[in-house]
Amino acid sequence: MDSQSGDVITPERTVSAAAPPSAAPVARPAPSSVAAAPKPSGAIVESTPDPPVNKMRRHIVWASIAGFLITCFLMFLRFFLPRAIFEPSTVFKIGFPSDYALGVDTKWQQEYRIWVGKTSDRLFVIYARCTHLGCTPDWKASENKFKCPCHGSGYDSEGINFEGPAPRPMDRAHVEIDPEGQIVVDTNRLFRWPKGDRNEFEDKDRGAYLSV
Ligand code: FES
Repeated sequence: MDSQSGDVITPERTVSAAAPPSAAPVARPAPSSVAAAPKPSGAIVESTPDPPVNKMRRHIVWASIAGFLITCFLMFLRFFLPRAIFEPSTVFKIGFPSDYALGVDTKWQQEYRIWVGKTSDRLFVIYARCTHLGCTPDWKASENKFKCPCHGSGYDSEGINFEGPAPRPMDRAHVEIDPEGQIVVDTNRLFRWPKGDRNEFEDKDRGAYLSV
């Protein structure tokens, strides 16, 4: 032993006591006396068949994706369409004056929200809207009057208010005769009779009624 450096000297080799453990010699595998078997070239790899449940899952996934994309596409198209409410025309024909008997005819109430009134000398069209808050009154033939179901306003057969909170008679729509002799109504042009104000129902020249 060298007392100066701390090395141990053996006949075969010299081992340094200060050398780190990683410096130990790495053992190498002994050469095999048997040669490695050659890998087979062109080997056939067998794949297991896809079970039906997997196919079904794939179909469900693809169907979901397709549905999602179609929905997105439709919403995209909807964005470019006009956001409008399509209402029936305010100008329409209701037949000939001779089609109506004296009194109140309610056959156009559902389609056009009007009643046709006929007296001995004139035909007019009442717009079926209560002048209180806008409900549609009911025609009570047995009582010969209109009755509003909302707050009880009453109107006579010509739409003139006589009870309840309605402030004025129901409005009347513009009427005229077309070249064929049919009545043409325009509910966009209404005639009013506000309380204490001018009675527009008498404006025959402007189309408030027809002479019969
Ligand atoms: Fe007709 Fe009120 S809405 S009485």
